[in-house]
Amino acid sequence: MIETAQAFGVDIGGSGIKAAPVDLEKGDFALPRLKILTPDNSTPKAIAKIVRQQLEHFEVPEGAPVGIAFPAPIRPGKPIDFIANLDKSWIGMDVTAFFSEACGRPVTVVNDADAAGLAEQQYGAAKGEDGLVIATTLGTGIGTALIYNGVLIPNTELGHIELAKGKGDAEKYAASSVRDKKSLGYKKWAKRLTKYYGLMEKYFNPDLFVVGGGVSRMSEKFLPYIDVKTPIVPAKLRNQAGIVGAAYYATTKLV
Ligand code: BGC
Repeated sequence: MIETAQAFGVDIGGSGIKAAPVDLEKGDFALPRLKILTPDNSTPKAIAKIVRQQLEHFEVPEGAPVGIAFPAPIRPGKPIDFIANLDKSWIGMDVTAFFSEACGRPVTVVNDADAAGLAEQQYGAAKGEDGLVIATTLGTGIGTALIYNGVLIPNTELGHIELAKGKGDAEKYAASSVRDKKSLGYKKWAKRLTKYYGLMEKYFNPDLFVVGGGVSRMSEKFLPYIDVKTPIVPAKLRNQAGIVGAAYYATTKLV
């Protein structure tokens, strides 16, 4: 790891596990990230092996803060009881204790969308925003982070709200992975997103929506067609937000 990197971030997703040393002053990668595909068999053992590989690849020194963004609600010291997009054998595990043991050093774990939201609040599109910001990540699933007057309210799972008229779990209808699987055009997908963000608007009355995830780099293709009253902007850190936010979190919440 090079000197300007003050912390190391890992973002575990349904399709890839991405990691990089992070320059916390700039809120940016200090070295190009390393992405390894998430194995089909996404068990704790298989994922821990990849995270270890990434720590070795970047020669992360002992004592450097390590943060891991994980796609499930994370309450420190408590087992997880819900996971949508990784192997169900994660359920019942204290993931922070598990990764600390597997990596041979203390690590912090935070929900992936919360990590992304934190990064946007510190360095990106939600910086300096008062009121309620709902930061969302559109990827394999839909992740959400609620930030009120700069303070994160963690572990919201609003990607799983029920859409009207039997459309069920929102992420199964409107996630970016659904657009891929169903080969939906961006405008058609934006109609689905309008239903999703419209419902969020109705229930939460936010001041701003921030839209992140890998697909946010194509935001001009779908964001203008999401028909809601609340201002809606692309994430500034795009798909880097999970890694940057996890690294940032590790420096503020060292165990
Ligand atoms: C999970 C969330 C996660 C989101 C994005 C959802 O399926 O339940 O915890 O933040 O996907 O990965």
